[in-house]
Amino acid sequence: MSGAIVILGVFVADTAYRAERAPRMGETIMGSSFKLGPGGKGSNQAVAAARLGADVAFLTRLGDDPFADMALKTWSDAGVKPLVTQDPESYTGAAYIFVEETSGDNAIIVCPGAAASIAPSDVEARAQEIGNASVFMTQLEQPMDAAHRALAIAREGGGATILNPAPAADLADGMLDLCDYVTPNETEAEGITGLPVASLDEARKAADALVASGAGAAIVTLGERGALFHTPDRSVHVPAFDAGAVVETTGAGDAFNGGFAAALADGTDPLDAVRFGCATAAISVTRPGTAPSMPSRPEVERLLEDA
Ligand code: RIB
Repeated sequence: MSGAIVILGVFVADTAYRAERAPRMGETIMGSSFKLGPGGKGSNQAVAAARLGADVAFLTRLGDDPFADMALKTWSDAGVKPLVTQDPESYTGAAYIFVEETSGDNAIIVCPGAAASIAPSDVEARAQEIGNASVFMTQLEQPMDAAHRALAIAREGGGATILNPAPAADLADGMLDLCDYVTPNETEAEGITGLPVASLDEARKAADALVASGAGAAIVTLGERGALFHTPDRSVHVPAFDAGAVVETTGAGDAFNGGFAAALADGTDPLDAVRFGCATAAISVTRPGTAPSMPSRPEVERLLEDA
């Protein structure tokens, strides 16, 4: 049976610049292309899960401007239910994304705009939806106190709780105790634990530290090496899927998290949900953009069957 997913997070308009390299301070370089599109980690995750057929609601704050219109259209097209407050005194955020021409890798600056003022009171106003969710997921682009409060409400409601700790930050005391799953990438796992995460063995040690700090399971996403699923009882490396040539890796973590949440909401075993997330991410990196690169369920199922 499929349950509802509630995601707390940020929408921003992604402004993506492709170039051979990033400019140095004080330097101007020529890029090869520019694209404007929907982004923000939480919104991307909501679009990914909805494209996979999940029942998804997204809790955030927007301004009242053309980027807010882009957000509302993106969610309407994907089938995401908006739980949104619009603040005409503020603005809808934007992200600068540098995409390296040769590798498709990226570097990002996010300005969340109105979403930077998401407060615990916004979350409490949606306590019913969060408490009834079968899966609740959040990240760290909005203020941490709101994420912390929402995780507490979701835990009380009995749904599965996921913290995607992106971008990395020092977590509030007791926050990991509220997480059934914490899903950092290698950089975020290093930032949170203070341990190096270059090899699989090192990822295991960092995952151990996250579990020792209270998370039910740590899932460290490893880019082209897949993901590590780590609990106190088992530690399994899930290799990445090959869905074709890599065009852009921006949003791959969001694709993973959206896929993982959608599979969990379907009642899938967590390790198989990690496989589903990896397959979702593998397809997303073969396409440009973040939210627009999220695959449909038949595409993901085909990749899983072929593998
Ligand atoms: O994870 C990718 C996302 O991070 C981009 O869409 C960008 O908006 C930043 O939030």
